[in-house]
Amino acid sequence: TRELPREKWDFVILGSGIAGLYTACTASWAGRRSVVLTKHTLVDSNTDKAQGGIAAALGDSDSPGLHLKDTLGAGAGLCDREAVDILVNEGPQRVRELIAMGARFDRQDGELALTREGAHSRRRILHAAGDATGAEIQRVLNEQVSLDPLIEVRENHFVVDLLVRENTCYGVLALDCREDRLKVFYGRAVVLATGGLGQLYDHSTNPEVATGDGIALAYRAGAEVMDMEFLQFHPTVLSLPGAPRFLISEAVRGEGAFLRNRYGERFMPRYHELAELAPRDVVVRAILKEMANTAADKVFLDLSHLDPEMVHSRFPTISRTCAGYGLDITRDPVPVAPAAHYMMGGVKTNLHGETSIHNLYACGEVACQGVHGANRLASNSLLDGLVYGGRTVERVAGLPPAGGEYPDFCCRVLSDPPAVDEKQLRAEIQAIMGKYAGPARTADGLQKALAFFERWSGLEGCRAGGPPEMEVRNMLQVGQLVAQAALIRTESRGGHYRHDYPESRPCWQKHVILRR
Ligand code: SIN
Repeated sequence: TRELPREKWDFVILGSGIAGLYTACTASWAGRRSVVLTKHTLVDSNTDKAQGGIAAALGDSDSPGLHLKDTLGAGAGLCDREAVDILVNEGPQRVRELIAMGARFDRQDGELALTREGAHSRRRILHAAGDATGAEIQRVLNEQVSLDPLIEVRENHFVVDLLVRENTCYGVLALDCREDRLKVFYGRAVVLATGGLGQLYDHSTNPEVATGDGIALAYRAGAEVMDMEFLQFHPTVLSLPGAPRFLISEAVRGEGAFLRNRYGERFMPRYHELAELAPRDVVVRAILKEMANTAADKVFLDLSHLDPEMVHSRFPTISRTCAGYGLDITRDPVPVAPAAHYMMGGVKTNLHGETSIHNLYACGEVACQGVHGANRLASNSLLDGLVYGGRTVERVAGLPPAGGEYPDFCCRVLSDPPAVDEKQLRAEIQAIMGKYAGPARTADGLQKALAFFERWSGLEGCRAGGPPEMEVRNMLQVGQLVAQAALIRTESRGGHYRHDYPESRPCWQKHVILRR
């Protein structure tokens, strides 16, 4: 790194969703300077796409205790109780801060309008512009960071590797894609806030950028990763030939929509007492069963019994998008199927975002401190980004500011990378993951997936080519981790379902932790 341009910061934050930007804001309130590196543009994040909302116990009949109970229930016995306790108790204050920063959540008669989603026992989901909650949060945070002199955002910076020596992270090596030049960013703390890995699957709600980069970077550097087998599939994603996989928010069911099979039968009451509002993993498995029983590749959301005016005003984005495909959601059955949505596992952290590598922190979807257990409660993820993004700063804020000397690193970038058709490899990974490591798994299928990843071993993480090539190598790394953890867990629990082990087993009330 000696010859490369280098910068020194208090916080080097990777990722520009809610966790990354809120961490930068919190660091600034503590008088610390942050650089936010994002591999594409500021708004390319899962946060920007989030529809349903952000959960917080703010209603009169609600309490953090009830929110805790619902979160633990959805998490299927694998949540860390202390982590959830922090989430539900610190959450309301963080949400109030967001409102003070200018977030305009929907109101009814002057009060915050709260909706319900699956497995919530109370109306506690705040939403904005009906079904564009994430975009509103992203707008506020973007505005905040762009006005803050202590925060700099660098778009089009792809992080190639973490700079780690003797289990201490000193910074990152990044490719400035505009200048096509490698640069070094040293930091008092390096924070992974890179989001999830939905792009590993052929059907996903996630944007193109969600390729699991943060998990791959951390694992390569020797960090522990946890719960990689727990991937949440969203039950209701638009399933029309030729149309992109577009999320139909759970809030649609929260406002009363029914799920029907191809014969028009409402099936969820047969599967769970909460019917359409059962925990997400239950709804996904019920849909898969109905699809198999009726030889169909989709089921249907029915909103025709709801007030059309309410539907259009409450769900303007969904309404408009579906209209673009010739569907009037107040009348027509909306074809939906499950798709990969959220990674419960990730880089293992403690309750302050510290990973197993000194000076390396993680928060938001890339991190795993056990707050979501085996199945995340709907709308807890934006809250997680806020609460644990904020907490990440606490430990570092008391340390002396960045400065002094940093070690040099020897970074070998291959000038002659192995010849691989990256586009085709990406499609193959997605097909393999969809087929063998999707919502229903078997040992046989997972072994096939692992054999595929084995064929490419050695290529994962190799520093060569541009961002698309490096992304695909990160996907190889992370896909292998998901398949490996899923094979190890010989039971079914939450988002992880094994045909060959269909029951939960008490001996598995523990985590799978992987380390290179
Ligand atoms: C949705 O709107 O259904 C997504 C909410 C979430 O995943 O938390």
